[in-house]
Amino acid sequence: MRKKVLVTREVFDETLEYLSRHFDVIPHQTSATLAPDELARKLQDVDATVISTSDRIDEALLARCPTLKAVCSASVGYNHIDVAACTRRGVMATNSPGVLNDSVADFAVCLTLATCRRLTEAEAFLRTGAWQGTHLKEMLGVDVHHATIGICGFGRIGQTIAHRLQGFEPTLLYTARNRAAGDVERRLGASYVSKDELLQRSDIVILILPYSAQTHHYIGARELGLMKRSAVLINMARGGVVDDAALIEALRERRICGAGLDVYENEPNLNRGLLGLKNVVLSPHIASASEPTRQAMAMKAALNCVAALTAGNPPDLLNPEVTKAGVMG
Ligand code: DGY
Repeated sequence: MRKKVLVTREVFDETLEYLSRHFDVIPHQTSATLAPDELARKLQDVDATVISTSDRIDEALLARCPTLKAVCSASVGYNHIDVAACTRRGVMATNSPGVLNDSVADFAVCLTLATCRRLTEAEAFLRTGAWQGTHLKEMLGVDVHHATIGICGFGRIGQTIAHRLQGFEPTLLYTARNRAAGDVERRLGASYVSKDELLQRSDIVILILPYSAQTHHYIGARELGLMKRSAVLINMARGGVVDDAALIEALRERRICGAGLDVYENEPNLNRGLLGLKNVVLSPHIASASEPTRQAMAMKAALNCVAALTAGNPPDLLNPEVTKAGVMG
């Protein structure tokens, strides 16, 4: 009997075609997220699922889906998957690292420039007819060239962002759980500093670290208080890495100059306080959203799914204990 795979969100035709060569595929070609009950219902008798970051895979859901053997996310971040719960239940969990590094790094530069140069505010100024002709003190922004830029999180994407920024001739600082190798630091001209030193010295702070219990509210009122009043914060990481309420307060009181956000606490129901602020540039979690990259992410999830169900060895397995312990169903 052919195995069954649920694809929870709209993907590209080639992904469905590839999966259909191996399995009976249950597609869900809409942009709507499946509510937990609906997801559990659709996962009955299903062997694996290809998911996105909006699908929460937790203990309660897994308990209701006893036939599930693999959960394959089309994303590098996997804080929406309770990996420990998957391991306990013998479910393989995979993500899709690597293929999105360049697009995310491009977008980090885009959001940094848009925020520093107040692009969305300036566009609204023009569109609403407020522009009376250029004058010297209008729409003054923060220079990116020659700025001190601090990157929090220095994995594959953080290092790609550092590489992209070279043309701006910055003073580059970084902080991370693990210090990078000497040759990486030299190649990127990046100096390792403590988190507090980075916040105190940087003109621009870019967050690109994974979300976990340890990084919950990594930037809160204390950290915002350490930053320069002229500084800009860019969140490319995950909602929850920043305390959005504390950020709104800091932006309102101009304790920092501005922020560029691609991710939010409680996505997609972001804190409405952000919407009324002029000194913040907002985008809807689109850092990886170019067609080739999103296609590659979906295909990577599909490849993991095929490898998981046919050989039990998906290349991006997050919980190798499952296959080692032989608990695979
Ligand atoms: C990821 O892959 O984790 C990005 O945030 C895109 O969803």
